[in-house]
Amino acid sequence: MYTNETTKELQKLTNELVKKLNSGAVTLKEINNLRDVLRFHEYRYYILNDPLLADYEYDQLYKTLEKIEQENPTLITTDSPTQRVAKGLTKDFPTSQHLVPMLSLDNSYNSDDLIDFDRKARELTGLTIIEYCVEPKFDGGSISLIYENDMLVRGATRGDGVEGDEVTTNIKQIRSLPLSAKFSSYGLQQVEIRGEVLINKTNFANYNQQLAEQGLTPLANPRNAAAGTLRIKDPNEVAKRNLEAFVYHVSYYTVLQGKETPKALTTHSGSLEMLWDLGFRSPQKEKKVFKGIDAVIKHCNEFEIIRDDLPYEIDGMVIKVNNLALQDKMGMTSHHPRWAIAYKFKARQGTTKLLGVEFQVGRTGAVTPVAKLEPVAVGGVTVSSISVHNEEYIKEKDLRIGDAVLIERAGDVIPQIVKSLPDTRTGKEKKIIFPTTCPVCSSKLFKEEEEAVWRCINIECPAQVVERIIHFVSKDAMDIRGFGDANVRKFYELSLVKDIPGIYTLDFAKLSGMEGFGQKSIDNLQLAIANSKKQPLHRLIYALGIRFVGETTAKTLAQAVDHLLDFKNFSLEQLQGLEDVGPKVAGSIHHFFSTKSNIEMLQELEKSGLQLKNEKKEHVTDGNLTGQTFLFTGTLPTLKRSEAEDMAEAQGGQILSGVSAKLNYLVVGEDAGSKLEKAKKINTVKIISEEEFLKLIGKK
Ligand code: IVH
Repeated sequence: MYTNETTKELQKLTNELVKKLNSGAVTLKEINNLRDVLRFHEYRYYILNDPLLADYEYDQLYKTLEKIEQENPTLITTDSPTQRVAKGLTKDFPTSQHLVPMLSLDNSYNSDDLIDFDRKARELTGLTIIEYCVEPKFDGGSISLIYENDMLVRGATRGDGVEGDEVTTNIKQIRSLPLSAKFSSYGLQQVEIRGEVLINKTNFANYNQQLAEQGLTPLANPRNAAAGTLRIKDPNEVAKRNLEAFVYHVSYYTVLQGKETPKALTTHSGSLEMLWDLGFRSPQKEKKVFKGIDAVIKHCNEFEIIRDDLPYEIDGMVIKVNNLALQDKMGMTSHHPRWAIAYKFKARQGTTKLLGVEFQVGRTGAVTPVAKLEPVAVGGVTVSSISVHNEEYIKEKDLRIGDAVLIERAGDVIPQIVKSLPDTRTGKEKKIIFPTTCPVCSSKLFKEEEEAVWRCINIECPAQVVERIIHFVSKDAMDIRGFGDANVRKFYELSLVKDIPGIYTLDFAKLSGMEGFGQKSIDNLQLAIANSKKQPLHRLIYALGIRFVGETTAKTLAQAVDHLLDFKNFSLEQLQGLEDVGPKVAGSIHHFFSTKSNIEMLQELEKSGLQLKNEKKEHVTDGNLTGQTFLFTGTLPTLKRSEAEDMAEAQGGQILSGVSAKLNYLVVGEDAGSKLEKAKKINTVKIISEEEFLKLIGKK
C-alpha cells in the first residue's frame, strides 16, 4: 500500500503539519495533505498495528481537518477521514440485494474429512494435485461491501444470503475498512467483497466489564457482540465498540472500459494480495498456499495450537482451491461453494446440567445469581459454576433447574451459558425463583426502574461489608498483602475486623496461635497494613468502592480537592464539572459523601493515620524522565508497583493507565498478561525489566 519511499514522505509531511499545528499555521491549502496524512496513520494503526504517531497528535490533526472542512463545506469529499462520523440515529436498515448470493461453507472436523474434500476436488477438476490457499476462519459477523469507482457505496449484513440489511453508516465506523480504495489501478470499476466483522478479545472484555458495571447483561461471546453491533441504530455507539474487519473474498467485479481482468484475480491468494495492497486488512500474512492436502492438514493442526495467541477469535481454518478458474469449474451447491471448506477447531462449547442457582451478594448489594453446574470441560478448563447475571437474563434464556444447558468459553473469556436446551426436558425441571429478601441479611431487595439488578440496600449487610473490605485491601486499591479474601472472611466471622476502619485497629495479639498465622505472617501483615496508610489519596478513593468510581475517576477526584472530606460540600453540578464525571457518577459520589456513616468512617481512617489530604505532587517538569510515559505490569522482582510509579514520577515521568501508542516504556515483571501482549504489537513501546528501569532512573 505504502512503499518505503511514500512512508518516508508521509512521515516528513506529518512532522511538518505537527510543527505547523503549534503555530496555528495549518490552513486550507493543506486540506489534501491533512487527509493523506490521517489516512496513512489510520492505516499504520488499524491495518498494520504499528502506529507511528501519538494519539494526541492524530487527534489534533483530525480536529484541524474537521475545522477546515466546517469552514469550507463544499470541499468535503465522501472519503475524507472525517466522513465516518454520522449525525443522528439510523431509522431502519433498508434491505439490500447482494450482487452474488452469500453462501455458507461446508464444514470438516478431522483429517479424513479434508482428505475426502480433496478427493472430490481432484475428481471435479481432473487434476492429480491441487493448490490450496488456507486462511483463518474469523469468528464474527459476515459483511458484504460494494465499491464503485473506488468509493465505498454500500455495506450489508449477510441476511438470508440473497439480501441483507444495509448497514453502510455502521460499516463506516470500522476504521480498518477504507472509505475509498484504488480499485481502478487494477482496472476494476465495481467490486463486491466479503469479509468478517470482529471485536478483538481485549475490546470485548472491556465492553462486557462496562456492561457488568452498569448492571447490564454481558454478551456471551465476541461473535454475538460483533454481529449485534452492526445492527445498532446509533452509529456513535457502534464507533465506541471498536469493531475491526478482515476481508477475504472478491465475490464480483466489473472491469473498466478497455481494461482486462487483472492478473491478481487469477488466484485466491492473488486477490488477497490485491486487497492488502489497496489498504484492506485481508489475511495477507495469515494465509498460506500449499500443494496437496497433506500439507494443508499439517498447517491446520499447527494453527490450532496458536489460536489463543491471536488477539481475535477464530473458530477454524478455511481451505480454498487457489486457482479461480478451477473454482468456477467446480461451482457450488445452493448452500456452499464446492471449492472451499471450513475446518472447524475443537469446539469450546459443551452441554451440561444446571443443578441449582445460588444467590451472591456483592459489595454494592447487587444480588447475582450463580448457576451451579455438573462439572464440564470446555476449552481446556472445567466449569462448575457460571454467573447468570440477573433475573432478566434467566428469563431471556428460559433457564430452569435440571435443564441441559449449552456452555461456551470463547478463548480467554469468562464462560457463559449460551442457551438452555428445552427439547431435552423431562417435565421435572424447576423454575428459578428469585429471592425477594437478601439471602444473607434477609432485608427486602429493591430494584431501580431502569436497572436489571436487585439490590440489598442494607449497607450493614454482612455480605456487603465483607466484599467492601476485600475490595479495600485488594492489589489495585490499598494493596494490603497477606489480607486475602479468605482472611477477610475469617477475621470478619471472628469479629476481629468488622468494617474498613477495623483493619487499622486489628489486635495482632489475637492472631497468634490461630491456624495459618505464624509470627512471620503476622509481622508481614502488620507491616503491610502500616504501609497502606501511606497510599496516595487516589488509591484510597478507589478503595472506598464508591459505585461507578473506577481507578481513573478516583485519580480525577483526588486531583480535585485539598482534602477528601471537601467533597461533602460539592454540589452535583460541581461534580459533573470534573473530567469524565457524568450525572450517574456524580450522583453516586454525592450520595456517598452525604451519608453520615461514610463520613464517620473517613474520619476514623484519618485518625488511624491514613492520608486524606491531597499531597499535590508538583509535576517535575525538568526531570530526567519529563515527557516520558510509563506503565508497570506483572509482579516486579524487588519494587512494589506503587513505589516504582512514585520513582518514575519523581523524575518527571508520567504514569499511564493502559497500553497505547502514547506509552514509551512498559516495565514488566513476572506473570505480565494482556498489557505485555498489547505492547508487543506497538513498535514504539519499549518493553523493559525492573533492572533496566532502575538503570534508566540512575538507581543502578
Ligand atoms: S469464504 C463463498 N473465508 O464463515 C465464500 N468465509 O461458516 C464463502 N468466514 O459465511 C466465505 N472466515 O462469514 C470465508 N476466511 C474466510 C472466513 C469465512 C470466516 C465465515 C463467513 C461464512 C462462514 C461460514
